[in-house]
Amino acid sequence: MVQIREFCWRDYDDVAALWAAAGRDVLPRDELTAKLTRDPQLFLVAELDGAVAGVVLGTYDGRRGWILRLAVDPAHRRRGIATMLVGELEARFTALGCPRVNLLVMPDSTTALRFWQALGYLPMPDVLCTKPMGDTSR
Ligand SMILES: CC(C)(COP(=O)(O)OP(=O)(O)OC[C@H]1O[C@@H](n2cnc3c(N)ncnc32)[C@H](O)[C@@H]1OP(=O)(O)O)[C@@H](O)C(=O)NCCC(=O)NCCS
Repeated sequence: MVQIREFCWRDYDDVAALWAAAGRDVLPRDELTAKLTRDPQLFLVAELDGAVAGVVLGTYDGRRGWILRLAVDPAHRRRGIATMLVGELEARFTALGCPRVNLLVMPDSTTALRFWQALGYLPMPDVLCTKPMGDTSR
């Protein structure tokens, strides 16, 4: 049975492996430590038979919620695990009074776009702009 629960540090290696398997950058421990000083209840994992099978990282800036780094173990996809993770995260955003949730999808990621649209997330024409504050590797 799948259990959705908050991340704890013993999950880190499993979560890093999931992000790597999904082709995502792995957030280093120091970045996660900083994230966990704010809304730690928005960093969720899906546990299946004692192992981490999915992960999602939410943030809330007081105006908008953001969903980041959703990934499900390739061996357990199309079983509703991402839907459960996002459903629990949305409930937690709502409990915080968050009125709207945003996320970014790579334009060539057909699977991700289909998934998000199935859950009611609609594309917007905005273009992401970014600038490193010092260290250009982050
Ligand atoms: C996208 C991802 C998180 C979906 O996880 P999942 O647990 O398989 O998703 P779910 O089982 O909850 O899927 C819910 C619905 O999304 C849609 N969907 C999910 N995967 C899909 C696919 N490969 N093709 C088409 N539709 C898909 C379907 O409508 C699906 O419902 P259905 O299975 O009843 O048809 C997973 O494929 C993944 O980790 N991909 C790599 C990382 C990634 O792209 N993350 C998103 C970054 S923005």
